[in-house]
Amino acid sequence: QVHVKKICCIGAGYVGGPTMTVIAEKCPHITVTIVDVNPHRIAAWNSDDLPIYEPGLEDIVKAHRGTNLFFSTDIDKAIIEADMIFVSVNTPTKTQGLGKGFAADLKYVEACTRRIAAVAQSHKIVVEKSTVPCRTASSMRYILEANARPGLRFDILSSPEFLAEGSAIRDLHDPDRVLIGNLDTPEGHAAAQALVEVYANWVDRSKVVTTGLWSSELSKLAANAFLAQRISSINAMSAICEATGADVDEVAHAVGLDTRIGSKFLKASIGFGGSCFQKDLSNLVYLCHSLHLPEVATYWKSVLDMNDFQKRRFAQRVVASMFSTLTDKKITLFGFAFKNNTGDTRESPAITVAKYFREERANITIYDPKVPDRQVWLDLTEPGVVDDEIELRKTVSIKHDAYEAAEGADAIVICTDWEEFKNLDYERIYKGMGKPAFVFDGRLILDEKALKKIGFRVETIGRSGDNVGQEYRF
Ligand code: NAD
Ligand code: UDX
Repeated sequence: QVHVKKICCIGAGYVGGPTMTVIAEKCPHITVTIVDVNPHRIAAWNSDDLPIYEPGLEDIVKAHRGTNLFFSTDIDKAIIEADMIFVSVNTPTKTQGLGKGFAADLKYVEACTRRIAAVAQSHKIVVEKSTVPCRTASSMRYILEANARPGLRFDILSSPEFLAEGSAIRDLHDPDRVLIGNLDTPEGHAAAQALVEVYANWVDRSKVVTTGLWSSELSKLAANAFLAQRISSINAMSAICEATGADVDEVAHAVGLDTRIGSKFLKASIGFGGSCFQKDLSNLVYLCHSLHLPEVATYWKSVLDMNDFQKRRFAQRVVASMFSTLTDKKITLFGFAFKNNTGDTRESPAITVAKYFREERANITIYDPKVPDRQVWLDLTEPGVVDDEIELRKTVSIKHDAYEAAEGADAIVICTDWEEFKNLDYERIYKGMGKPAFVFDGRLILDEKALKKIGFRVETIGRSGDNVGQEYRF
C-alpha cells in the first residue's frame, strides 16, 4: 500500500486550487504542488491577489503556501516527484467537430495523461478529478500504458469533486461524501485505499465512499443532472405561479417539507448558471445519444430547454411590463456572477438577459460586487456579432457602487442573489430613478411589500406581480 507523501495536481483552477489547498491544510505530512500551463494563473496563486475568490480560501493559502503547498509551472518536475497525481483540468463542451455543443472536450485531459506517461519514472496513482464522460478512465489507462516506459505501473482512480463555488472551502472541509472509484483489482483497491487515507485525515471514514470506476464517473454526471433538474422543476412551477397567483416560495416550502423531496435546491430563479450544470448535462445528453438511448437523452435535454425558457421568459416579462419597449431606457443589472459569493460568470444567466436587453436597444448598467470589469466586457463581446468593446461601451456601462449604478435607471433587475442587495437603501435608490421605477427580482430576495410601499413597481419570479392576468409570452 502506498503512503502518499507527495501530491501533484495538474490544473490550478476553481477545483484544483481550493481542493489541494484544503488537502495541504489538513495533511501537513503531505507536500502538495499545483501546476498549470497558464503562467499568469500560477503567478496569481503566488501573489496577494489570488486568481479566484472563495470565502476563507485566501487565509488557508497564505498559511500553507511555501510550507507544504506550492504553485508552479514546472509540470514535469511535479509529476516526477509525486506519488499521486490529480488531473483537475477543464473539460469544456466541444465547440466544433463531432458532438459540438454537447460532447465534453477531452483534449486537456488527454494532454495531461500523455505528459504523465512521457515523464513518469516510477509508479503513479492518477486520480481523475475533472468531470469526464463515463469510461474516460479506460482511455487514460490505455494512453498511459501505450506511452510509458515498459514495466511502469499506473493505477487510475476516479474521484469527482462535488464542491459548489462560493462555498468551496465549507464543502471541502465538511463534504456530504467523498467518492472514490477504482478498478476491481487488488492494485485498484490498494490505490483507492491510499486516497481514502488522505481524506481520512479530516473526513469521517463513513463519508468516504468507494465504488467501481464507471459508477464513480457516472455518479458525478448524475448528481449534477439531478440538481439541475430540481431547479428546472421549480422554475417550471414558477411560470404556473405567475399565471395563477400562487407564490413559488410557498409552493417550494410546502413541497420541500416532504422528507422524500427535501427543501434544498428549490429556489426559483432566472435560471441556473455556472460552469458545470449546462456542460455536464450536455455531456450526459451526448452520452445517451452515443449509447443509442434517444428517449433518455430527450429527458435530460428538457432540463436544459426549461432553463433557456426561464431566462427568455424573464426577459420577456421585463419588456412586457415596461410597456413593451426598452429602447433607450436605462436598465440596471444588480449582479453579473452566476450566483452569490463568487466572481465567476461562466454561463451566468445575467449574460443571456443582458443580451436580450441589448437586442431591445436598452442602455445597460451593471453592478456586481466581485466580477472584474474585464470579465464583463469579455462576456458581452461576441465574435462576429459585437466584437468591439468600444461599440459595446456605447450602450453598456459598469459601476462599482450600487447607488451610482441605479442613478437615473428606469428599472433594476436582480440577476444574482448577493446578500448586499437585500440591505440597500431602496428609498434613496427610488428617489434617483426614472418613474415609474421598476424592480424585477429574478432571485426572490427582496421584500416586495416594502418596495411597493416606497412606490416601486415590482415583478418577482414566481409571483404574479402587477401584471397578473397579462400574457407574457411572445
Ligand atoms: P478551470 O478552467 O478553472 O481550471 C482548469 C485549469 O487547468 C486551467 O487553469 C488550465 O490552464 C489548466 N490546464 C488545462 N490544460 C492543462 C494541461 N495540459 N496542463 C496543465 N494545466 C492545464 O476549471 P475548473 O472549474 O477548476 O474545473 C476543472 C474540472 O473540474 C472540470 O472538469 C469541471 O467540470 C470539474 N468541476 C468543476 C467544478 C466547479 O465548481 N468549477 C466543480 C466540480 C467539478
Ligand atoms: C454545482 C453543484 O452544486 C456542485 O455540486 C458541482 O460540484 C458543481 O456544480 P455550482 O455550479 O458551483 O455547483 O453552484 P450551485 O450552487 O449548484 O448553483 C448553480 C446554479 O443554480 C447557480 O446559478 C444558482 O444560482 C442556481 N440555483 C441553485 C438556483 O437557481 N436555485 C437553487 O435552488 C440552487
